[in-house]
Amino acid sequence: MRRKLVVGNWKMHGSHAANAELLAGVLAAKPYLADVAMCVPFPYLSEVAVALTGSHLLWGAQDVSAHEQGAYTGEVSSTMLAEFGCRYAIVGHSERRACHNETDQLVADKAKAALAHGVTPIVCVGETLAQREAGETEMVVKRQLSAVIHTLTHCIGEIVVAYEPVWAIGTGRTATPEQAQEVHALLRKQLHAATPHAGGMRLLYGGSVKPDNAAALFAQPDIDGGLIGGASLKAGDFVAICRAAA
Ligand code: 13P
Repeated sequence: MRRKLVVGNWKMHGSHAANAELLAGVLAAKPYLADVAMCVPFPYLSEVAVALTGSHLLWGAQDVSAHEQGAYTGEVSSTMLAEFGCRYAIVGHSERRACHNETDQLVADKAKAALAHGVTPIVCVGETLAQREAGETEMVVKRQLSAVIHTLTHCIGEIVVAYEPVWAIGTGRTATPEQAQEVHALLRKQLHAATPHAGGMRLLYGGSVKPDNAAALFAQPDIDGGLIGGASLKAGDFVAICRAAA
């Protein structure tokens, strides 16, 4: 039985005051029956770590460098994240693939760098609306995951995968539970071919998850939780989604 995981992706939102209010609201509602984490902007890692230490809630980053250290201005290494007690790092979010030209191989290298220092990568895959309408969903998500499988080889079982159809992100247009399950099943099959641990791996769904659609998505056999954007910024909504994952 896989324990559900709900991860908030704050994206580029937050302020000291807003973070304190949000964290207080989420902390007040514990305990949770699912694993819960928040992936926050780099400057807020230390305050989030302080607020969440001892609470069973976990925290992470939204990106990580593929490099150990060196002349990479603006990048943050997994060694640094590990020093902040980061448990997770999102890699390959579609916003980074689109806005920062991240390739499948770079995403795979970032996942490898994260794992090397004990930070679990949450590897995002997903098709655009044009790709879905052209019948390319399976090809695209398999290609994205395949780069990670080939780069991580025997460690692939240690990652979390998030299926985030690009057309469902921030649009209010969520995939139906059946549409999401269909892709999750494909990804699970691909992982089964790569590792004996695929059955225990957590595959999250992301894209306009809200309190009113979370339970139906999480009830699907291969959906093990969610990666939550907008709704993770409202304590009440995020708590309701975490409860739906019980
Ligand atoms: P929304 O939940 O705002 O659609 O964002 C999803 C997402 O991109 C999480 O990583």
